[in-house]
Amino acid sequence: MKRTFIYMVVSLLMGALAACGNKPADENSEQYHINFSEASPIQKEHKSVLIISGSPRKGGNTDLLCDAFARGAEEVGGRVEKIFLADYRIDYFSEADEQRVGNRANEAEDDVPMLVDKMVQADVIVLASPVYYMNITGQLKTFIDRTFGRYREMKDKEFFYLTACADPEESTADWAINGFRGFVMCLPNPTERGMVKAIGMGRKGAVKGSQYEVEAYNLGRGI
Ligand SMILES: Cc1cc2nc3c(=O)[nH]c(=O)nc-3n(C[C@H](O)[C@H](O)[C@H](O)COP(=O)(O)O)c2cc1C
Repeated sequence: MKRTFIYMVVSLLMGALAACGNKPADENSEQYHINFSEASPIQKEHKSVLIISGSPRKGGNTDLLCDAFARGAEEVGGRVEKIFLADYRIDYFSEADEQRVGNRANEAEDDVPMLVDKMVQADVIVLASPVYYMNITGQLKTFIDRTFGRYREMKDKEFFYLTACADPEESTADWAINGFRGFVMCLPNPTERGMVKAIGMGRKGAVKGSQYEVEAYNLGRGI
């Protein structure tokens, strides 16, 4: 009797667990997954490439990496646009932005709806930021937060990351990479294609003529 009871309870539990495992993912649930591929999963002749330059230093190290990437991508037929975030009005995410989802995302009065639309349209997105206190810059993070109304539309995008820091330790650059990934892993089916970590680059313009500039150019050619 006792044995039969235990058998029934175990069977019920196993049935319940199996049912949970087979449950289709809820449309709203996050997957938190990034695909990694050096080769492009999208075969397209003239890819649209959006480079988001997140440093306040125009002509600074990450901005130079962006330009090198852009040169390479243009040479292989990419339709490239670089946006220097500090040139735009990007307000902090506010409670009102929680309601500005989908069709309502265009209601914000600053430059964000126009910029986010560029992200939604792009095939390839390059996220660029120096390391600021072991993270990405406030400019880029503020902008990323504001993608909230349309981030689910950023489906099947390919991503490259560019970062620079003063510290010669690669692990310092990884903090910025983690910052990029925190956003990218929330998107539907993203693919990470490559990155440049320009370490030991404190002075403005230090990247000029360095191996990192070449790396960024080669990544651009590989879109
Ligand atoms: C506010 C601030 C915070 C920084 N924090 C770090 C840091 O945590 N680690 C580091 O190695 N460099 C740090 N740096 C140095 C920059 O990452 C470095 O100078 C980088 O090359 C700047 O890139 P940019 O020319 O694209 O602006 C910091 C610089 C500033 C202005």
